[in-house]
Amino acid sequence: MPASIKIKKKINCFNKTITVSGDKSLSIRWILFSSIANGKSKAFNLLLSEDIFATINAVKKLGIKVKINKKYCTIFGNGLSGYKYKKNIVINAENSGTLGRLIMGLLVDSPHKIKIIGDKSLSKRDFKRIAEPLKKFGAKIKLTKKGLPLTIEGNKNLLPIKYLENKGSAQCKSSVIFAGLKTEGKTFIKAKKSRNHTELLCKHLSLPIKIKKFKNYDLIEVRKAKKIKTLNYKIPSDISSASFFIVLAALSDNSKLVIKNVNINPSRIGIITILKKMGVQIKFQNEQKYKGEIIADIVVYSSKKLKAINCPSKFNSGAIDEFLIIFLVAAKADGVSHFKEIGELNQKESPRLIWGSRILNKMGIKTITTDNSIKIFGNSNLKIDKKIVIKDFLKDHRVFMTSVVASLVFGGTWNIHDKDSIKTSFPLFLKIINSLRK
Ligand code: S3P
Repeated sequence: MPASIKIKKKINCFNKTITVSGDKSLSIRWILFSSIANGKSKAFNLLLSEDIFATINAVKKLGIKVKINKKYCTIFGNGLSGYKYKKNIVINAENSGTLGRLIMGLLVDSPHKIKIIGDKSLSKRDFKRIAEPLKKFGAKIKLTKKGLPLTIEGNKNLLPIKYLENKGSAQCKSSVIFAGLKTEGKTFIKAKKSRNHTELLCKHLSLPIKIKKFKNYDLIEVRKAKKIKTLNYKIPSDISSASFFIVLAALSDNSKLVIKNVNINPSRIGIITILKKMGVQIKFQNEQKYKGEIIADIVVYSSKKLKAINCPSKFNSGAIDEFLIIFLVAAKADGVSHFKEIGELNQKESPRLIWGSRILNKMGIKTITTDNSIKIFGNSNLKIDKKIVIKDFLKDHRVFMTSVVASLVFGGTWNIHDKDSIKTSFPLFLKIINSLRK
């Protein structure tokens, strides 16, 4: 039976400073880039969660030496084509779509067949979206239905491709960039806007990438890399993890919260833009640049008078992992909020659009949901005094954390299952929640 948590009491007001864990997207990318670098790379503040351990195990399977202690992680890269492994290896991507999809881009030239598997949630997700472009480079990929388990076997004579990424998937874009770095000639990508950490790391490492930014998409040109420099990195905190605390502070009475050293990369701060428009008081302080990223402390205050939003879809890509928690603000806002073109949410660890409306309905909030949109009928006097059970959500960490925040700000008696789901992205979540409850 997965462990569950009972919450029966709203949180009292708080005025605190916290630090959340390292950025998951950057942690996974740092491991993968370091695994193909020539020499020793070191990272401080690497996220220590199941998705990251799965990534470390994956590169270890590919013959890469990794050392980890309480302070930092060291990876001994073996060069762009330096993976060394036996036949018939199996890489377990566990719950991580980012690992499963990104690593495939690094295996397009693998000499042997490799099997990629994942947990129940990942095995339901779409890998055809990344198998299609990688097959065009020349890799042989066999999927089970449209996903895992899959096998991938590389090709020594890779061909560059022209790829249209039109889902706004940073995972697909990044995987194709990795494959492009291994391929002679020019690979062209026209990509709908999505998080750009891979491009920033390529630039920081002086890799052969050119990017032209347009209003709705980017044009990216990648050429074969010669050598990859080592990458010493201090991973900033994850805005996706911070977002649960941003909303907790915004919806609690008489509170203020400072969240230190968060990565506020413009391609990740959709939640900030959306919440500001809804009337949340939030600001950045101590902004500084770090290896192409921008880091700042986020300050949030309790916010009364919240307004519904008709959310422009241009904000979607920058908030793709944050919609569940944004929906809680819409539940407390005056009026009907409308979020459109968000069907991608149903492609995540669980079908999140469905789960988002399910949680809101359990809270007594009316929703109208389609495959691609949700209308949320907010109630500025929302108070819950019934029992709510949240279970069977396919180990989706963000469903668990959103439910915890809802219970703490709206009241009621909540029984939230699958507490272990937080181990994938944010094992310290409940510890930090408890530090605010004192
Ligand atoms: C991620 C990209 C997004 C996001 C995921 C992390 C990444 O997925 O939802 O949590 O690190 O590249 P998609 O590429 O499927 O949109």
